[in-house]
Amino acid sequence: MSKKKITILPGDGIGPEVTREAVKIITATADKYGVEIETEEYTVGGTSYDEFGTPLRDEVLEACKASDAVFLGAVGGPKWDNVEPENRPEAALLGLRNGLGLYTNLRPVKVYESLIGSSTLKEEVIRDVDLLVVRELTGGIYFGKPRKTEDIEGGGKRAIDSLIYSTPEIERITRKAFEAAAKRKQKVTSVDKSNILDTSRLWRKTVNEVAKDYPNIELEHMLVDNCAMQLVRNPGQFDVILTGNMFGDILSDAASMLTGSIGMLPSASLGDGTAMYEPVHGSAPDIAGSGKANPLAAIASAALLFRYSLDMDEAANDIEEAILEVLQEGFRTADLSAGSDPDKVLNTTEISDAIAERIKLKQENISNA
Ligand code: IPM
Ligand code: MG
Repeated sequence: MSKKKITILPGDGIGPEVTREAVKIITATADKYGVEIETEEYTVGGTSYDEFGTPLRDEVLEACKASDAVFLGAVGGPKWDNVEPENRPEAALLGLRNGLGLYTNLRPVKVYESLIGSSTLKEEVIRDVDLLVVRELTGGIYFGKPRKTEDIEGGGKRAIDSLIYSTPEIERITRKAFEAAAKRKQKVTSVDKSNILDTSRLWRKTVNEVAKDYPNIELEHMLVDNCAMQLVRNPGQFDVILTGNMFGDILSDAASMLTGSIGMLPSASLGDGTAMYEPVHGSAPDIAGSGKANPLAAIASAALLFRYSLDMDEAANDIEEAILEVLQEGFRTADLSAGSDPDKVLNTTEISDAIAERIKLKQENISNA
């Protein structure tokens, strides 16, 4: 039996609840394929700050580097709003992304037919939407220096963040976007603000250069404000959306609502070493502990973990199919429950048990075949 080591970082708020369910699914699926999973769990984010005075300990980052994959729940919460910036829970996330060199963030947005009524948008607008946001994750305004707040003469303050992108950073993420498009619908929409920003003008020029290596992939450029509008006007036009760190953050939240709930969106953050998987949603402290958290984004992130880090496509497909089946059978979590059969609204654990059950059934199908 081969053995894989996964570092589990449950984090804050609903993070531990959805992570517990994802780990259950990871173990059940790995079992089925004869892979032994060894997990090591560490606190990160606000919970780590409370316990250790820092949101991310060095030894946690080292453990992540030494594992086959990292799974993270969510970090943050109002409890830590007044903590100094370098110790905020979000600093753990940025420290992990930077420390592991996770420059590629993949956020697939797929509208499930059975959830089509759960979106706030009209059915005809969102039907068949299947797009992928490729977000640059270790550069741009999230990491640029200088970053500071200083006093100005005569009173008041001035704050500075720096938006910086270099050609190599743009080139490598652009290649990832084109490679992804090659396996999908052969189209890349590169999103920038090149009518204003120098970084965006360099972005566009660099993307055009890299595109020469992918003559079969259609490339279009779109300004970010227009893209936000097009995502709600006609999202079906998109295949791969390639963009920088902050635009990707904003556009992926907007895109998530096409699916009905941000609780549906998984993500994979990849670099040249260990990769990290996390649901796109936050720590939702308001519903923590209530059993209302939707674990589907976390479970779908587990599917991505099998696909990208363990090279187990079939296992990933099993999980994704099981999610689809459970939704098709009418089961819902609280966030998706509007207009659904109240008897089929499940809590966090129940819906993941239903998914684990479907995965197990698939196993029986295989062994009976
Ligand atoms: C995300 C989140 C993070 C980000 C926060 C929590 C730092 O919003 O992953 O989209 O802005 O990248
Ligand atoms: Mg975000």
